[in-house]
Amino acid sequence: MAPSRPAERGQPPERWGSGLGFVLAAAGSAVGLGNLWGFAYRASQGGGAAFVVLYVVIVLAVCLPVLVAEMVLGRSTGHAPLLAPVTAAGRRWAPLGWLFLAAAVGILSYYAVLMGWTGRSLLHALLEPLPADMAAAKDYFTAISSGGDAVLGHLLSLALTGVVVAAGVRGGIERLSRWGMPLLFLLLAGLAIWAAFLPQAREGYATFLLRWDASKLADPATIRNAFTQAFFSIGTGIGAILAYAAYLDRRSPIPREAASVVGMDTAVGLMAGCITFPVVASFGLADVVGSSTVGTLFIALPTGLASLGATGRLVAVLFFTLAYIAAITSSVSLLEVPVSSLMDRLGWSRGRAVWLCVTLIALLGLPSALDVAVLERMDAIFGGVLLILGGLLLAVLLGWGSSQRFRSDLEHSGTSGSLVAALLWALRWVSPVAISLGLVVSITDLVRNWGG
Ligand code: PHE
Repeated sequence: MAPSRPAERGQPPERWGSGLGFVLAAAGSAVGLGNLWGFAYRASQGGGAAFVVLYVVIVLAVCLPVLVAEMVLGRSTGHAPLLAPVTAAGRRWAPLGWLFLAAAVGILSYYAVLMGWTGRSLLHALLEPLPADMAAAKDYFTAISSGGDAVLGHLLSLALTGVVVAAGVRGGIERLSRWGMPLLFLLLAGLAIWAAFLPQAREGYATFLLRWDASKLADPATIRNAFTQAFFSIGTGIGAILAYAAYLDRRSPIPREAASVVGMDTAVGLMAGCITFPVVASFGLADVVGSSTVGTLFIALPTGLASLGATGRLVAVLFFTLAYIAAITSSVSLLEVPVSSLMDRLGWSRGRAVWLCVTLIALLGLPSALDVAVLERMDAIFGGVLLILGGLLLAVLLGWGSSQRFRSDLEHSGTSGSLVAALLWALRWVSPVAISLGLVVSITDLVRNWGG
């Protein structure tokens, strides 16, 4: 028997206040720490412009059709991520619902730790002078990323995420995105303009974004980086956008909304690059960033800015504010996956589902909070492999298993027949093949580096 919708159990269905509200919330989910840190350090690992080109091609040809599929699955079933695959294609697809749940919970458990570091860096920049040199910055980073400080940052960030999600789709998530996203764009644009006037700005763009070497297009490391970055950054494949799309009305133009989300996400990645690369080049930090780990930018950025005195401190405050906004609009979408699933499957109230999930995720994230090596492995498994696997299964489900659902949902909301056909073609032939290849590379890499 198909599971019943919340509305059928007498609860009023939740809805977005407007189409713009949904787009901003979905863009908020996509734009996150992945854009600010991930893009900068992956782009700096030697791929140059080839990395950027590959990244954009993968986003458009592979991620965009999957994002549309994920939205269609959410809207057409009206169910949360756990039940949507079963509703669309029967019991055989139940494991995909569980995969969504596991991936979202796993990612949020370490994402909240990264948010904690970000919040702590913001407080530090507000209250104390920036670290004077690299050694001081490293000590400072070790202090915030281990022990009590890291645990506290993790718990507070999760609690804040819980407060927003508990306030509901319209009153919490949409409201946060409506003021957060415009503010984020404003800060980003302001900082990019400021960075353009740094002494070595041109050199920064040149080394990281404009250096063209065609052979890098076939370099496995560049391909892997572009692939992982594209999927994590768009955030499709784990049900976060699916959960949001379940609150969408039947008429909203999904392909156009998906294109806006993808456009904003890519623009933020590039703009973040236009801030970090000039800073890195102007303050001689290229070596540090090149040998990057998750912590690098937390160390390099404040050190570079320290030499600018009060201006540097102001820039650091604005940058970490921007990063924290980006992070929380993403973490709420991750929390919405298990929360909406519990509400949908067990009929729980939102508040009860939120606090149970927050408690479990807080516990699950403790090992990552206490040990950066664990965090990196969690990222490799959940952010690298499970997320991409979810994308593959979504492409198969809506491209092959339930293609009729894909077609009729989009045509009913006014998408032209030729656009639907093109999207379906990409979903059937391009996405699964490309994702399978990317997955093989990611898993091989994971296994190879496991001991190291
Ligand atoms: N896209 C987010 C980021 O770039 C992270 C995320 C992944 C959000 C998956 C939702 C789903 O930080």
